[in-house]
Amino acid sequence: MQGSANLNIMIKAARRAGRSLSKDFREVENLQATAKSPGDFVSKADIAAEAILREDLMEARPNYGWMAEESDEEVGKDPTRRWIVDPLDGTTNFLHGLPHWGVSIALEFKGEIVSAVVYDPSKDEMFVAEKGQGAWLNEGRLRVSGRTKMIECIFATGVPFGGRADLPETLQDMARILPGCAGVRRWGAAALDLAYVAAGRYDGYWERGLHAWDIAAGLLIVREAGGLVEPIDRKGDVLNDGAMIAANGGMFDAFAKLVRG
Ligand code: IPD
Repeated sequence: MQGSANLNIMIKAARRAGRSLSKDFREVENLQATAKSPGDFVSKADIAAEAILREDLMEARPNYGWMAEESDEEVGKDPTRRWIVDPLDGTTNFLHGLPHWGVSIALEFKGEIVSAVVYDPSKDEMFVAEKGQGAWLNEGRLRVSGRTKMIECIFATGVPFGGRADLPETLQDMARILPGCAGVRRWGAAALDLAYVAAGRYDGYWERGLHAWDIAAGLLIVREAGGLVEPIDRKGDVLNDGAMIAANGGMFDAFAKLVRG
């Protein structure tokens, strides 16, 4: 894919942050066997990755705004554009030595995501998209799955943890969705869940309680791969509500009906 200058900046930044995280991940894997808690180490790895991304993205585009998981939001001199960044999506996986986590970078222009990168360093998978230009995984074009029979579909979600108030809703969703499909996965990295819908690996995804940085890049990648993305509340706003549904076009309505109850 011949990406824009901005997309190339994003890809380079994601690779550099990915290298730093991969080095730290090897250390976390070593720490698993010891009694030491790797928690502090992981938050340092997260903060270091965000610093790399900030340096690369803001040096290249100093007028853009900034929104990221580990720092305060900033409005740029150009208020129409901002980076939306999650340096480490799938933090709990990282902490437990599970090789399923990623770097997520989106560029927003006038309230719309126009460029997106989700990078999984463990598998060296770079998912990218630009508005109107399609979605790509490394050198190959991405396309959502063509499955339309619910019973053949695999869905992904996130299950609220640590006493979050939205657990009952998610369990009710599960009770409606599980009996009629081929399975529900909870792999713990929302940005990768969305990238996998775009790649046709999952047929759909839903989750509540998300942040903009978890999903900003992934939602463009799904749309550009031919999928649909909507807020769970039809009148809501997908980026700000944090409660969303994504699926291939052929089965979106049936799936969304189940999620919305
Ligand atoms: C989390 C992951 C997880 C989702 C949580 C997110 P983080 O992001 O995306 O899959 O279920 O809601 O907060 O904290 O690892 O960046």
